[in-house]
Amino acid sequence: MNACAARHVVLVGMMGVGKSSVGRSLAAEFGRPLFDSDEMIESEVGRTVREIWATDGEAAFRTLETATLLRALAEEEPSVIAAAGGVVLSERNREALRSADAHVVWLLADVEVLLDRVRAGGHRPLLDDDPEGTLRRMYDERAELYQEVADAVVSVDHRSIGEVTRAVMRCCA
Ligand code: S3P
Repeated sequence: MNACAARHVVLVGMMGVGKSSVGRSLAAEFGRPLFDSDEMIESEVGRTVREIWATDGEAAFRTLETATLLRALAEEEPSVIAAAGGVVLSERNREALRSADAHVVWLLADVEVLLDRVRAGGHRPLLDDDPEGTLRRMYDERAELYQEVADAVVSVDHRSIGEVTRAVMRCCA
């Protein structure tokens, strides 16, 4: 199957939806590099997302998130970008996603499915307290923002990584 007509494929969606796993699989299928925002931030800053969050605060993390997204979108080489869940919170990021030469795919899941997948700890400090309530509130706040930037929506519910990858490839063709 042809790679996407747009330069980049960008995966957006809630924490735990599988952006990194599907991103890896998609990058392998397309033979493209993968830019994973959280990993990029951690390797550049030399600290984990959790450490950045604890030491510098959320606002500082969001600034790094924006810089990382803009840099990935500016790559000449057609790429797969697994954007962190919070990128849609900023109008600047949404505008960058809308205007980039990129096919933006919103990976969508029921909150029950997300809850099953997210782990305590790790790079998701926002889920330390009341993960279910937080994910539900977040979904309510963010659904329209994901919708605003998405060229396509792919449900991940009851699908394997391979099935989601193929669904994303179909909507890129
Ligand atoms: C966040 C999502 C996380 C990470 C941080 C904040 C969010 O990334 O960037 O914990 O606000 O949705 P994933 O979407 O990769 O889990």
